[in-house]
Amino acid sequence: MNTDCISIREVGKFFGDRKVLSNINLTISEGEIFGLLGPSGAGKTTLIKIITAQLDADEGEVFVQGVDTRNFEKKMYSNFGMVLDNTGLYNRMSCYDNLLIFADLYKINKKRITEVLEKVGLSDASKTSVDKLSKGMRQRLTIARALLHNPSILFLDEPTTGLDPSTAKAIRRLILNERDNGKTIFLTTHNMMEATELCHNVALLNDGHIVEYGVPDQICRKYNTKNMINILTKDNKMLSLENNVQNADRIAELLRNEMVTSIHSTEPTLETVFMDLTGRTFESE
Ligand SMILES: Nc1ncnc2c1ncn2[C@@H]1O[C@H](COP(=O)(O)OP(=O)(O)O)[C@@H](O)[C@H]1O
Ligand SMILES: [Mg+2]
Repeated sequence: MNTDCISIREVGKFFGDRKVLSNINLTISEGEIFGLLGPSGAGKTTLIKIITAQLDADEGEVFVQGVDTRNFEKKMYSNFGMVLDNTGLYNRMSCYDNLLIFADLYKINKKRITEVLEKVGLSDASKTSVDKLSKGMRQRLTIARALLHNPSILFLDEPTTGLDPSTAKAIRRLILNERDNGKTIFLTTHNMMEATELCHNVALLNDGHIVEYGVPDQICRKYNTKNMINILTKDNKMLSLENNVQNADRIAELLRNEMVTSIHSTEPTLETVFMDLTGRTFESE
């Protein structure tokens, strides 16, 4: 995991007079799952579009596998698998036929269609038309299409947003599986639990600014400033004590007197870190 796959240098973006991305600096290594986290409107999709050269940056530069996005040629896209908001599936065609269009376009062996349908758990729905699929199945078909040409980088823009927990879990398993196959994965999400579970590194994006970057666990530990111990006593009182020497005797006494029903240390999550940093909640949709 040492070779740079994506390098983003001092990137800024305006929509009209509004600056929606400011001074974005990020390096994503090959084989990494990187998570860009932020509430709705933070600028996540805009950054993905800049990296994939669907939008130009107004400031700075981006290199993908060493190639400047300003010099992308068509063949660069054969390295990318993309799952973005607009699915672009043909509603009245079957799952298989939707993939067939892409297979023909990219000159991919038809055997691969069956393979990816199996991978995303849609083998049984192969002949079902897209308009009969549930939202979760549709998303899995979109992922199948993104995987069809076996790209080396996956861009997944909120791949689990709005899906039921079991489909979301299946998709997370797929993402980990693709990581194990050596792919680099650029993921956006506003689900911190998901990011903590999947990502090697995350960046927290707020109003177009990166407010924190790093390994999820390390970020949480860095902000573990309050470090409280919550104790529920036998007489049903909830005590919240700072974890320090001064409170040690009191806690020991409660334990000695068998007064403790439960005892927990509080650890920050990416969500509480984000709230501390920005004063706003994450799940703002
Ligand atoms: N084509 C566009 N024209 C004008 N404003 C846009 C356009 N696309 C996105 N924006 C604005 O840029 C900001 C970032 O949007 P976006 O990247 O979609 O955020 P996210 O994906 O994190 O929800 C938002 O305020 C959004 O309204
Ligand atoms: Mg978005």
